[in-house]
Amino acid sequence: MEEAACEAESSIDLAHGNLLLYSRVSPRQCWRIARGTFWRSSISELAFEQLWSAIADIGRDSVTGGYRRFAWSEADVRMHEWFAGECESRGLELTEDRMGNQWAWWGDPDGSTAGSIVTGSHLDSVPDGGAFDGPLGVVSALLAVDRLRADGLTPRRPIGVVNFVDEEGARFGVSCAGSRMITGVLSPDRALALRDADGVTMADAMRAVGRQPEQLGPDPEALSRIGSFVELHIEQGRGLIDLSRPVAVGNGLWAHGRWRTEIPGEANHAGTTRLNDRRDAVIGCAHLVLEARAAAEAHESLATVGKINIMPGGVNAIARLATAWLDARAADEAALSATVDQIAGQVASLGGVMVEESRTPHTDFDNALVTRLTSLLDDAPVMSTGAGHDAGILANAGVPAAMIFVRNPTGISHSPAEWAEPEDCLAGVAALASVLADLAGVEP
Ligand code: GLV
Ligand code: MN
Ligand code: MN
Repeated sequence: MEEAACEAESSIDLAHGNLLLYSRVSPRQCWRIARGTFWRSSISELAFEQLWSAIADIGRDSVTGGYRRFAWSEADVRMHEWFAGECESRGLELTEDRMGNQWAWWGDPDGSTAGSIVTGSHLDSVPDGGAFDGPLGVVSALLAVDRLRADGLTPRRPIGVVNFVDEEGARFGVSCAGSRMITGVLSPDRALALRDADGVTMADAMRAVGRQPEQLGPDPEALSRIGSFVELHIEQGRGLIDLSRPVAVGNGLWAHGRWRTEIPGEANHAGTTRLNDRRDAVIGCAHLVLEARAAAEAHESLATVGKINIMPGGVNAIARLATAWLDARAADEAALSATVDQIAGQVASLGGVMVEESRTPHTDFDNALVTRLTSLLDDAPVMSTGAGHDAGILANAGVPAAMIFVRNPTGISHSPAEWAEPEDCLAGVAALASVLADLAGVEP
């Protein structure tokens, strides 16, 4: 087959999971094409596409194309089942910790005094999230294991692939709830009482899908199995675009957190209440939003109000309450505190309250691990990120951790437009496989 025809027939759309390849040729033909040419359609690309397409429709909104894989929702349960099935088909032993994070083991996780080499990420999403944030790390981890096995290698130290639950905190508000719980940063009592937008507690959400919330708690045994943790993730900014490099090494996270603010007003009639007589919670909320922007500019930080709930929410009613959630991030603790303090001052002057929902300190990943990954990956660029990750929670619990970022050609993330080119995804798999081989030590 000529190369031009092959390219057309094997073109893929990873973000939307469209199987253009299979719509034109049979899977058997695809493998022949791949083996025959080794040009664009490498076997890895097909393997990637097969895994990717299996989850492409799970929790995807047919109108926006974005994902709604909220913790313990039907879509989330299906993602967990998919992960369990992939692990089973590879003969990886699946365990769950006290929070329900899934761990798949190649080798005995208690069989090395130095601990296991763990990789993976999460499978939940933000509202209308992209395809790559989280799943790219899990899919790449499975494929990296496949690649080591295809090369006939056996790790000396056990290798683990983890799927952390509720990383985004999209349903109950606390990000990285899975890793915060097992590291003891989030208490079971607090977690189980968190409520989603429909008033359902985390405890009831877990029970509804057959889980046992009374098991929740810190899990030092699960943590003790991790010798090193390397999370592969799509890049969520524009750091790699101009560097002509498909992957970077992550060396740390900005300080960041979430705060819930409540701005009071007085409910009244929109058509009869004179302007001077109004106490409109939405006007107060508007001041809060603008103050967040001003504080971010003043302290060289980031501050975002991305979710607002207005009560009672009638078109013809002045609002009695605005609940707004603030997300703030900064390269250092002082800038984050200054940002949040400035906004809190505004909230207080509006007669409102501001409550911290989660906060993660500035996090430096393990220096030796970062250095090792950088040299293994051909002096890859090193960068920190304003995004939060389970790797940060583990690092702050004393686990040597680092990250690998895969180039994002637009920088857009937490959006259906999130994207990574197929060849960059494969470069990520190759990078992760060589990192796992090096850290675990392999023998033929
Ligand atoms: C997670 O993606 C976050 O940074 O909020
Ligand atoms: Mn995310
Ligand atoms: Mn993520």
